[in-house]
Parts: sequence; C-alpha cells; structure tokens
Amino acid sequence: MIRIGVLVSGSGSNLQAIMDACASGLIDGTVAVVISNVPDAYALVRARKMSVPTVVVQHEAYPDRESFDEALAGKLEEYQVDLVTLAGFMRVLTPAFLRRFPGRIMNIHPALLPSFPGLHVRQKAIDYGVRFSGCTVHFVDEGVDTGPIIIQAVVPVYPDDTEEELNERILRLEHRIYPMAIRLFAENRLVVEGRKVRVKGLEKDPAAFLVNPPIEGCTL
Ligand code: GAR
Repeated sequence: MIRIGVLVSGSGSNLQAIMDACASGLIDGTVAVVISNVPDAYALVRARKMSVPTVVVQHEAYPDRESFDEALAGKLEEYQVDLVTLAGFMRVLTPAFLRRFPGRIMNIHPALLPSFPGLHVRQKAIDYGVRFSGCTVHFVDEGVDTGPIIIQAVVPVYPDDTEEELNERILRLEHRIYPMAIRLFAENRLVVEGRKVRVKGLEKDPAAFLVNPPIEGCTL
C-alpha cells in the first residue's frame, strides 16, 4: 500500500477522486497528507471530511521559493509519502524539491500536452479552434508541464464552447485518469525511459480513433 501526499491550492475535486479511489480499493494506497498553500482552499474541507491529515504551508510566509519548497518537502517526508501528487497546485516547484522525490512526483494538467502548457489553457484551446483537448497526467520535471506523459484523455472542443463547459467536460475525465495513473504507479507498472513512460501489461487498441466533427461510422 503506497502513501500519497497531495498538494492542492483550490477546490480539490481531483483530491476527492483520489481519496475515493483509495477508499474503494481502486488504488492500493492511502492519502497520508494533504498540503495546501492556500489556507481557505475547499480541498482542505474535503480532506477533513475524509479524516485525512491536512497542513497549510503558505508561500507568503517564506522569503523565497527555496525555503517554501524546503518546508513542503519536510512535511511530505514527515508523513513518509511514497508519491507526491499535484492536484490543482498552482506553484512551480524548485529543482531542489524535485531531487527530494526523484521519479515520484505527478501532476495533472487540463490540456493535451505538449499543446497548451501553463495557465488559462481551456480558453486558449477554444480560442485556437482546436477540435480536441483533454487532460494529461505526467511526471514532473524541471520545466513547466514538460515531464514524461503517463496518461491522457481526449474530449471534443466546439467553437461555441464556454470555458466553463469545456472545463466540466475535461474535469470529468481528470477524475478518471488521475486515479488510474496513481494505480499504475502503485502497481509498479510505470517505467520511465527517457521522455517515454512504458506501462507494463498495456493492451494496445490499434483500431481506436476519434474524429470531430464526426465522419460516417464514427461516434464520439
Ligand atoms: C484541474 O483542472 C487541474 O487540471 C488544474 O487545476 C484544476 C484543479 O481542480 N491544474 C492546473 O491547471 C495545473 N497547472 P481541482 O482543485 O478541482 O482538482
């Protein structure tokens, strides 16, 4: 059973999906601690409701990123986490932090990386006119949203979408793929080979495809 540390800054719907997946046995693991840099993040309420320990580490209280990250890493080590998951955590981590948990930090991003890294990416996808977007779970490296990709899910984008509509469509899938990525990690099935993540025991589906707008014989 793995011990998971979850870093949050906001509503915590991904945290909820992870806690639910641990409770249902989908993930052979437990959320050992939830750490927020925002004291009134709703994610903290969700954690307390599930009797999961919470810690607030406010970035404003530290003189620089290094000392903030040092405090975060110290807390995660105190709770003996095997895996650090960023779930709507809106801070970029320092190389020193990454070195403390090598190959053991994951993030979820609301776009199909490497398209649309960074912030406000749902609106950017709509404005660009892409036909598909989605979400990506990846290992964290020193870049912003550049680490090796573990799992992605795709949703259609429509020209008249609002940011909220696309967000809802993407979030529903985030809640499916983040627990799945963590499950694969807990099962020791993720092998990082350079930029690529090989999933042990993966079944290929060479016939799978999506088209938007649909063509005959293709339903989304
Ligand atoms: C999610 O959509 C996640 O992909 C995004 O923040 C949201 C958090 O929602 N993360 C990022 O944009 C990271 N750069 P949640 O707090 O309800 O899980």
